Order: sequence, then C-alpha cells, then structure tokens
Amino acid sequence: MRAENVWKVYGTGAAEVIALRDVSVALARGQLTAVMGPSGSGKSTLMHCLAGLDAVTSGETRVGDTRVSGLRDAELTRLRRERIGFIFQQFNLVPTLTARENILLPLAIAGRKPEPDWFDTVVDTIGLRDRLGHRPAELSGGQQQRVACARALITRPEVVFADEPTGNLDSRSGTEVLGFLSRSVREFGRTIVMVTHDPAAAAYADRVVFLLDGTVVEDLPAPTTDAVLETMKRLDTRGAAR
Ligand SMILES: Nc1ncnc2c1ncn2[C@@H]1O[C@H](COP(=O)(O)OP(=O)(O)OP(=O)(O)O)[C@@H](O)[C@H]1O
Ligand SMILES: [Mg+2]
Repeated sequence: MRAENVWKVYGTGAAEVIALRDVSVALARGQLTAVMGPSGSGKSTLMHCLAGLDAVTSGETRVGDTRVSGLRDAELTRLRRERIGFIFQQFNLVPTLTARENILLPLAIAGRKPEPDWFDTVVDTIGLRDRLGHRPAELSGGQQQRVACARALITRPEVVFADEPTGNLDSRSGTEVLGFLSRSVREFGRTIVMVTHDPAAAAYADRVVFLLDGTVVEDLPAPTTDAVLETMKRLDTRGAAR
C-alpha cells in the first residue's frame, strides 16, 4: 500500500487548507505502522486518502496493485467493503445489534458467509465469547472497541485502518486492544495502519511515520516509547520554531 506525491487541498481561496503536501510513503504488508503528529497535521486525511474514503487532489494512492485514486464509486465501495477494515475512536457499533451481529455485519453486507473457524479465532482472540449476545450499551468501552476490532478483521481485509483506536479507552483497555492489534499482525499476518497520540501505543508498531503540516518529517523503524518521545520533542521544537 502506498501514497505517491499526494496532495490534499480542502476549500479554495481564503478558506484553502493544504492537509497533505506531496506525501509519498510505502507501507509494508504484514506490518503495524503507527502514524503520529500534532492535531491538524494530516493523519486522518492520509488514512482517508489511502482507504479511498476521501479523494486526493493530486498524486495517487494504491492498495496492493489497485490504484485507489482512479476508481469509480461502485469500485471504491467494493474495495472498502472487501479489502479494507476500519476501527474508529468512537467504536461506531450499531446499537441495536448484539456483539455477534456487529462482528458479522460486514460479511452480511457483502453477502458472504462467515468462516466458522475464523469467527472462532477472532472471538477467542478478543476474549469476548461470553458477551456475544450483549448489545454495545451493555459493554464497557474497552469491550466495545474489541468488538469493533473483530468486526474490522472478520472479512480478512488486506489492510485495517485504525484512527486513534485507544483514544477513548483507559490504559488497561487500551493495552488489551493494542495487544489484539499486534497479535493480528504477528499471528495472522494482517497489515494495520494506526493513528495514535500515545508514545506507548506507537511502541507496539513496527514503524512510526511522523507528519507535521501535511508532510512526512520522520520515519522511525522499530520504535521504543523513549525513541518516540524523543522524536515528538524534537518535532515540537521544530513546530514551535515555524
Ligand atoms: N473536510 C474538511 N474540510 C476542510 N478542512 C479539513 C477537512 N478535513 C480536514 N481538514 C483540515 O485538514 C487538516 C488536517 O486534518 P486531519 O483531520 O487530517 O488532522 P489530524 O492530524 O487527523 O488531526 P487530529 O489529531 O486532531 O485528529 C486540518 O487543518 C483540518 O482542519
Ligand atoms: Mg485525526
């Protein structure tokens, strides 16, 4: 998956905002990549452009061999439905459906049958077998996010995009969700791109890409919490000096 010379401009004239300026980044399969940077630096915009949720202004994005930026609406819908999973900060579960129904919803929408073994694997990994009959309101935030993780993985997508998946969780639930995401990468070979503000969360990743003002400014392999903190401090100084 990659972005090549991607520009994203919102609005025109005085209202113009350049959210991404000439971003090129390649994200390896089978890795957990964290995307960090100050508020407004373009993290969500980059994910949305990679996932085909938002159109690039120029440049191109690819998922596998597919040029996302060139797809028509119907093809985009299929790409998102069949090849991409999403996890949001606000969980976004359907309140009237049980945990089981929420997890299976992407398959139901795509008209696909669940593979029983994979459903069991995912459910056992999130550790919520005894809660499958509960509705979201009957689950804690951490449990809801684990259901959302299972929902994102049930279709075996090529890539899962997670926008601040632990942003609304206490540290224990956050750790559980991060453990689940990194197991999905290491044991099941999934590819995950995760936006986070938390250096400890970023340390679960194989690599951290830092954005500042819509540009990739740092690329940190094998991150530790300390290395991430160091880089954040350095960028903070740069940001303040602008
Ligand atoms: N739909 C939109 N219309 C106009 N401007 C937008 C839109 N979406 C984002 N922007 C602007 O683009 C820039 C990047 O926004 P983006 O949401 O990607 O930031 P972010 O890094 O995800 O920030 P945060 O950490 O606060 O979520 C910001 O200046 C934002 O105001
Ligand atoms: Mg954002």
